[in-house]
Amino acid sequence: MSRSEKSRIILVGPMGAGKSSIGKSLALLTQKPFIDVDEEIVRTTLKSIPEIFAESGESGFRKIETEVLKNCLKYDAVIATGGGIVTSDENRQLIKNNGFVVYLYASVDTQYLRTKNDSNRPMIAVEDPKSRLNEIFTRRKPLYEEVQDCLVDTNIQTIKQCVEQIKSEI
Ligand code: S3P
Repeated sequence: MSRSEKSRIILVGPMGAGKSSIGKSLALLTQKPFIDVDEEIVRTTLKSIPEIFAESGESGFRKIETEVLKNCLKYDAVIATGGGIVTSDENRQLIKNNGFVVYLYASVDTQYLRTKNDSNRPMIAVEDPKSRLNEIFTRRKPLYEEVQDCLVDTNIQTIKQCVEQIKSEI
């Protein structure tokens, strides 16, 4: 698929990269609907993300995430994904084949600053969340790079600048 044929825009990146806030602004600018995969998971299961992790573990959450992702990919929209979406081979293929993929990069320090007051992320509900973020990002970094069509550095740009960069690359 060529760039111009990829109308759907899929945002990937670590927790705290700004996928939801950048996604909402980008959707307004591109006049597309905005879909947040995590919000869709909550809406369809009627459970919070911590509840799903507590009841079904990470593997149960990942199964639901893949099903919800497939449904979201039916729409020509700006789609914000959860940070762990790239951990499954199936999800990476789905993402690569179904949209223009923007990798929103944030350093581990930035990820930590942006997530430290949020209790809604079970993956980092541990004693030392910064080390956990570092460990997770080390594993996932090559996976984001594998699926990306473009990279946007959210450390050094405002939301507005990130959105403008994406608009100029699609
Ligand atoms: C996760 C990231 C979260 C959410 C879930 C798991 C992860 O989304 O999908 O808590 O494994 O990195 P955000 O990246 O929007 O925080």
